[in-house]
Amino acid sequence: KQRILSGIQPTGTLHLGNYLGAIRNWVDLQQEYEAFLFMADLHAITVPHDPAQLATSTYQVAAMYIACGIDPEQATIFVQSHLPAHAELAWLFNCVTPLNWLERMIQFREKAVKQGENVSIGLLDYPVLQAADILLYEPDLVPVGEDQKQHLELTRDIATRLNFQYGRAEEPILKLPDPLIREAGARVMSLTDGTKKMSKSDPSEQSRIDLTDPPAVISKKLKRAKTDPQRGLWFDDPERPECHNLLSLYMLLSNQTKAAVAAECREMGWGQFKPLLAETAVEALRPIQGRFHELMADRGYLEAILKRGNEKANAIAQQTLTRVKDALGYSRPL
Ligand code: AQP
Repeated sequence: KQRILSGIQPTGTLHLGNYLGAIRNWVDLQQEYEAFLFMADLHAITVPHDPAQLATSTYQVAAMYIACGIDPEQATIFVQSHLPAHAELAWLFNCVTPLNWLERMIQFREKAVKQGENVSIGLLDYPVLQAADILLYEPDLVPVGEDQKQHLELTRDIATRLNFQYGRAEEPILKLPDPLIREAGARVMSLTDGTKKMSKSDPSEQSRIDLTDPPAVISKKLKRAKTDPQRGLWFDDPERPECHNLLSLYMLLSNQTKAAVAAECREMGWGQFKPLLAETAVEALRPIQGRFHELMADRGYLEAILKRGNEKANAIAQQTLTRVKDALGYSRPL
């Protein structure tokens, strides 16, 4: 089987964007591929964070993976910070990565602007750690959204550079992964601005639907979601980003085709569509929420899964790390 690898930062409650844009794709891929899925808790502190929440959020993300349909018997689920190889390889990569490669990363520039003087070296270094996360496991494919394409390119550049500087052409030290760009439609936008992506870090809770939101909250958020005064609903109108986003959500959550949704909603007004979408979202999330709460109440079970995942991941990570350290000329630990 080919291998895939992906992760989510435990920086807050997961939302519909994380589910429809990431986790649900992994669920579809986990039969065909050997999936390595992790909680990127080292990445979570590249922006200001609350220490009282970090461990809980990490367990919540793990529980959410499983509640959304990741099968812990098939996939390897692990915690980034429990495996020292990630931070260690990132350091080695730091010393082969030119600074200007990082300074031109779009996500760094965007996030750095927001943080002004407080921007940490960790935020700049984020893609190097991400390169370590990926390359440790030698995945064939990395499922990424459009926003992460540049980071995966950097991962390939770091691997190529290290292979070139310290390896031999016939026996590369690191294996270059390819991106698996998911189909269009899985970029979920904010409920308050259809041109911005739905995001955990948006200060407005109204901007997103969290996977743990109770039915009444989902209905209320959708009722208040930004719309426009036009009658009739259709996809792909650049003048109507909110309309496109809400129709896409309905399509994804009801598992219908775009054509079917376009036909069903063509004549609808918002007063008719919003309750329909709310009901669909509530029904789609109901079983996920049920399983999530059960899992969160059984810490022992989650810990056992993560322990097993950590062990399996660590064995592979250590092999890659040793190969890189050997190539760089380190003596073996005594
Ligand atoms: N709005 C979205 N639509 C589709 N996919 C999304 N993802 C995130 N938001 C959307 C996907 O979810 C995965 C997890 O991302 P992450 O936690 O590593 O960081 P992120 O992409 O920066 O996600 P957020 O929610 O916006 O977090 P914050 O606000 O903390 O930065 C990724 O696969 C991502 O593509």
